[in-house]
Amino acid sequence: MAAQLRAALRRGRALAALAVAAAGGLLAAATLGSGPAGAAGGTLHDLAEAKGRYFGTALTQSNLSNSTLTAVAGAQFDMVTPGNEMKWDTTQPSATTFNFGPGDQIVSFAKAHSMRVRGHTLVWHSQLPSWVGSLPAAQVQAAMENHVATQATHYKGQVYSWDVVNEPFNEDGSLRTSAFYNAMGSGYIADALRTARAADPSAKLYLNDYNIEGVNAKSDAMYQLVSSLKSQGVPIDGVGLESHFIVGQIPSTMKANIQRFAALGLDVAVTELDDRMQVPASAANLAQQATDYATVIANCLAVSGCVGISQWGVGDADSWIPGAFGGYGAATMYDDNYQPKASYRSAVTALGGTAGSPSPSSSPSSSSSPSTPPTGSGCRVSTQINAWATGLTENVTVSNTGGSAVNGWSVKFTLPGGQTVTSAWNAAVSPAGGQVTATDLAYNAAIPAGGSTGFGFNANHTGNPAAATGFSLNGVACTVG
Ligand code: XIL
Repeated sequence: MAAQLRAALRRGRALAALAVAAAGGLLAAATLGSGPAGAAGGTLHDLAEAKGRYFGTALTQSNLSNSTLTAVAGAQFDMVTPGNEMKWDTTQPSATTFNFGPGDQIVSFAKAHSMRVRGHTLVWHSQLPSWVGSLPAAQVQAAMENHVATQATHYKGQVYSWDVVNEPFNEDGSLRTSAFYNAMGSGYIADALRTARAADPSAKLYLNDYNIEGVNAKSDAMYQLVSSLKSQGVPIDGVGLESHFIVGQIPSTMKANIQRFAALGLDVAVTELDDRMQVPASAANLAQQATDYATVIANCLAVSGCVGISQWGVGDADSWIPGAFGGYGAATMYDDNYQPKASYRSAVTALGGTAGSPSPSSSPSSSSSPSTPPTGSGCRVSTQINAWATGLTENVTVSNTGGSAVNGWSVKFTLPGGQTVTSAWNAAVSPAGGQVTATDLAYNAAIPAGGSTGFGFNANHTGNPAAATGFSLNGVACTVG
């Protein structure tokens, strides 16, 4: 499709999403990208499309009823991977029952927002109903082919790609044992690919795995496998690098690894990006995460065969990480309130956008600390509250009473017990209760000496609608009044 046509389509959809968000009053400018809210080219998908890439997210059925989440998803991303809804345990819970309802809902959301869909996944050892594992070996191939053919036919023409086989390898590069491998040996992979191609000739067919982002034994095995499949004429279009990273551990060989797969004539996609850290998150780890997101994006943009990047989830609140890796979280670009984090701003910058102030290296959290306040710093805060039975609106004005301009700010304060922030404007505010931090949104990063800036939030309360206390600006205590 002509690039201009697609770009126009996306622009139209982005404007519609903005209008819906504005009408719903749901969304702080924070969720609408960088710079002036809604500025052309400001969202992840606009910027990615300008580079000939997509920027996707994973969505589950339950995510669709969270209007804050879906507003961000619809505004920022142009590709959706169903988080669970196209896995075998959902789509064919018994030998004679197919259930495409949940997956269809994800596809409908994607269509309504002009997003494409990465189908995930047809053949996987996990989230596989027990009836498959209980089949006599002689019946497994027919069951697998029936599953692949039925599901790929149901979604024919509606998915951009299929992760045909998911996670086929062990860490040492040997093929993982599974119902499929045990019954058919390594040939199950070619068989699944051929069956998928026959059912939906226009879907890109992928093999997808984790820990194959850098050059190592496992990615070597994937490289050997896809080389061999291609040389045999088996239909294979791409390799998915899941990219479930830990902060500070992006493999240095990631770009070279993408390059070698692309050199085989294959597409490469970053399919499930997240970057976890121990929680509660430290400022240093959040800054490292921003660096990591930029690195991953740069690695993809550097290779023309790298077609796109998908994050696994929209924000920290819906991420699978806390449930899968005890003690870890904060792995995405949006915090628990769907406010953009430093990693979002660095992603925008890495995609060629202009959200870079404060940049990861000059963010308040990394450039200043309570023990080393900038010389001549000082601040005064005034608050204004409108409360009702169970909620309140609080507007905060922060004046820079120091002798030099502030460029990038982080305002910390304490909410009275029982108050929980539900939305915010002119700042990214998190966490929702207790000791919270409000961070600038790039476009309002600068507060001149003698100048002021304002932000606000809505909160629920349980009987104490008093104003927040204990304000500090970039680690320097503020006077109130
Ligand atoms: C995860 C989902 O996000 C969870 O909700 C589910 O409980 C387990 O699976 N690799 C994959 C994804 O290919 O399908 C997995 O998704 C995450 C790891």
